[in-house]
Amino acid sequence: MKTYLVTGGAGFIGSNFILYMLKRYSNIRIINVDKLTYAGNLENLTSVKDDSRHIFAQADICDADAIGELFATYEPDYVVNFAAESHVDRSIDSPEIFAHTNITGTLTLLNAAREAWQTADGSYGTCKFLQVSTDEVYGSLSLDEPGIFFTESTPLDPHSPYSASKASADLFVCAYSSTYQLPINITRCSNNYGPFQFPEKLIPLMIHNALQLRALPVYGDGLNVRDWLYVIDHCKAIDLVLHKGTTGEVYNIGGHNEHPNIAIVKTIISQLANQVDSAITEELIQYVSDRKGHDRRYGIDPQKITEELGWVPETSFEEGIAQTIEWYLSNEEWVGRVTSGAYQDYYKNMYEGR
Ligand code: NAD
Ligand code: TYD
Repeated sequence: MKTYLVTGGAGFIGSNFILYMLKRYSNIRIINVDKLTYAGNLENLTSVKDDSRHIFAQADICDADAIGELFATYEPDYVVNFAAESHVDRSIDSPEIFAHTNITGTLTLLNAAREAWQTADGSYGTCKFLQVSTDEVYGSLSLDEPGIFFTESTPLDPHSPYSASKASADLFVCAYSSTYQLPINITRCSNNYGPFQFPEKLIPLMIHNALQLRALPVYGDGLNVRDWLYVIDHCKAIDLVLHKGTTGEVYNIGGHNEHPNIAIVKTIISQLANQVDSAITEELIQYVSDRKGHDRRYGIDPQKITEELGWVPETSFEEGIAQTIEWYLSNEEWVGRVTSGAYQDYYKNMYEGR
């Protein structure tokens, strides 16, 4: 039986990954290490609450003692590091917590893994440390060159405090590979969407606001492009890289599914107008001042993961967005619960007065 230490497993992608892995493999054990920040919600894992293969440990990845103890107790074979501060707008308001969690937290995990896994002769067994990173570390592409994409050899050029912290973490992971031969992979994925995404990110925020007939805040001219990937396709790619990826390598994950933000917002409006309430119209769109340093376009070239590991996204955008809208319609109470408290204040400060 293999043991996976999954950090950030109560967040959006982490909880989808845990549910996916427990369904796919019977003989595994997952130690879910999560601090439960505003973005972490154990309710996401209700369906596996009685599954003894899932063990939850509330801990901060920056806490070396707690992490060392978890390694000693559970002796994980794999680490999959999802834990992070993940929202660009928050990083613009408060960069420090992004540096702390995303850089120091990753470094703490790397140290714990090295200490636990390295044998007396300096070698490692079949363990692996997978760092879940983002295409945002590559910076921004131009709208004028739609045929140019991020590849694994695109230089790192992060622009936001969020992407700077993720790029720094990636560099530490690479350094631990070259310096200590720690077996690692880094995955760099495009924007995910799907169930359990905290409604501060574009797609769930727009669904939630539209259902409340509230304004839909579109930054700048709405023409910034993101490359959208259904979260389960991302989980499948991580599973593949973890088990079949060449140790030491970076893999980009994306499915050539680029859309301008305004098109995403209009798609959501039209589906909700048909399904729920004809009062949901484009009148709700409100162009607001642009995000500082707003990256214009992200676009992944997935050739490496496709050719080496045979990964292709299986969910079309039409299916994925329909399933996502359906999920949010059936889980409005979840949205109410996760957006109560601190998030409400943050949200109010952010959009009021614009
Ligand atoms: P999320 O914000 O939904 O979840 C983050 C989780 O990490 C939460 O459960 C939170 O409680 C936990 N966490 C935060 N700080 C912690 C700490 N100090 N110790 C332990 N746990 C902590 O994020 P997400 O969207 O699920 O993203 C997961 C990972 O994937 C992140 O590393 C992110 O950079 C990366 N990523 C996300 C996307 C995307 O579109 N969401 C795309 C590419 C890469
Ligand atoms: P987001 O979901 O925050 O992801 P990221 O910034 O990591 O790509 O934003 C996706 C795009 O949507 C980005 O170009 C910013 C834009 N956006 C809006 O126009 N309005 C919003 O309210 C939000 C949250 C994002």
